[in-house]
Amino acid sequence: MDAYRIVGGKGLEGEIAIGGAKNAALPILCATLVEKGTYILKNVPALKDIKTLSKVLEKLGLRVENLDKNTLKVVNEGLKSIEATYDLVKTMRASFTVMGPILAHEKRAKVSLPGGCAIGARPVDLHLKGFEALGCEIQIHHGYVEAEAKELKGAKIVLDFPSVGATENIIMAAVKAKGETILENAAREPEIDDLCNFLVSMGAKIQGIGTSKIVIEGVEKLYPGEYTIIPDRIEAGTYLVLSILSKGKVKVKGAVREHMDSFLAKLEEMGAEIKEEGDLMWIETPVENLKPAIVKTMPHPGFPTDLQAQIMTLMSVVKGTSEIKETIFENRFMHVSELNRMGTNIKIDGNRALIEGVEKFEYAEVMASDLRAGASLVIAGLYAEGETIVTRIYHIDRGYEALEDKLVKLGAHIERIKVEGV
Ligand code: UD1
Repeated sequence: MDAYRIVGGKGLEGEIAIGGAKNAALPILCATLVEKGTYILKNVPALKDIKTLSKVLEKLGLRVENLDKNTLKVVNEGLKSIEATYDLVKTMRASFTVMGPILAHEKRAKVSLPGGCAIGARPVDLHLKGFEALGCEIQIHHGYVEAEAKELKGAKIVLDFPSVGATENIIMAAVKAKGETILENAAREPEIDDLCNFLVSMGAKIQGIGTSKIVIEGVEKLYPGEYTIIPDRIEAGTYLVLSILSKGKVKVKGAVREHMDSFLAKLEEMGAEIKEEGDLMWIETPVENLKPAIVKTMPHPGFPTDLQAQIMTLMSVVKGTSEIKETIFENRFMHVSELNRMGTNIKIDGNRALIEGVEKFEYAEVMASDLRAGASLVIAGLYAEGETIVTRIYHIDRGYEALEDKLVKLGAHIERIKVEGV
């Protein structure tokens, strides 16, 4: 099994470039199932999750080819199958998002239920309610969801909760449905805007992009073409924490400020001064000058759960008591016990974490529990004097493109090693 060996305390410096957004690239890749044709997708991050989804698409009959590291050509000459099987869907929950586009293309689909996940139960009831409203008959047998419709018909759908995946799946199912679909209480994440913009670039009629009320007028045909994925705001936020810990010597390149409002506002509330020049963003305010704060994770435009572990890592070395309330996933504090192995003082009380700032991180052997948690442990390791080992980095590979290469360029001492066990 791969692990990172990090010798911390090296003083990082330089620019770190942000790649394409994983969570935009995944649904956009799914959307290539909606219509026959050739798609060129640019700024696709080279990640394990993208490879997994490419395999799902290939099994369904699409051809996916890398033109270069970050450009994918997808050819849809019709689907050979309507089934996404358990062996692939279980490895990545986001592949459930193929269901809406398969339905749009074929009016029937069979997709494995995603199964468990390290950060919570993550049901798909909201996706299914949406498909039902669009006219599908749904059955669940032997771990698979089967959906079929004579015709997909536009409908009014009000989501009980602004689920990202359900919003994406329903939008993709509705783009070629007959008539108008009104989706209320839709999720508003920038990645959803990107998916909608991609669909609009192909001729879909979508209004209300970026709002919680999305109106889709079904069209008969879409016209595939070329599209460039937005930068990854979560990767940018992760590296901005690194910028603070380096007193601004690390500069983040290519982040989109408007996608990061709640995160940046929280850093400003803590006393950080965000500097920008051209496409660079950095923070020179020393961590010793930051104040503790209270964070509550919320659907966008609230504070993103995907930056919860990273801000917790920062708060761990901010003097005073900070608090984080996780409201999106019920089990997303698994990094706490690992961070505490690195000398932090964090206590959990239900879905709240109380973080008592300590002076510094200590090196330790730790384990990544999920993708963002893993990145946070790497950050702590980079600022702990001595040798930190982070195991289970297959989680990190899912979502951080070329992490160690980017960090080595900043002067970090980080290498991939093989260790025994799981
Ligand atoms: C997406 C992101 C993930 C991010 C999350 C929340 C991708 C590939 N992943 O995940 O990185 O952390 O948004 O911003 O884009 N829920 C239900 N029923 C449903 C669907 C969801 O109860 O049918 C619940 C989930 O259990 C969870 C909450 O809603 O508690 C949020 O889930 P959702 O917004 O759907 O997240 P994902 O799309 O899975």
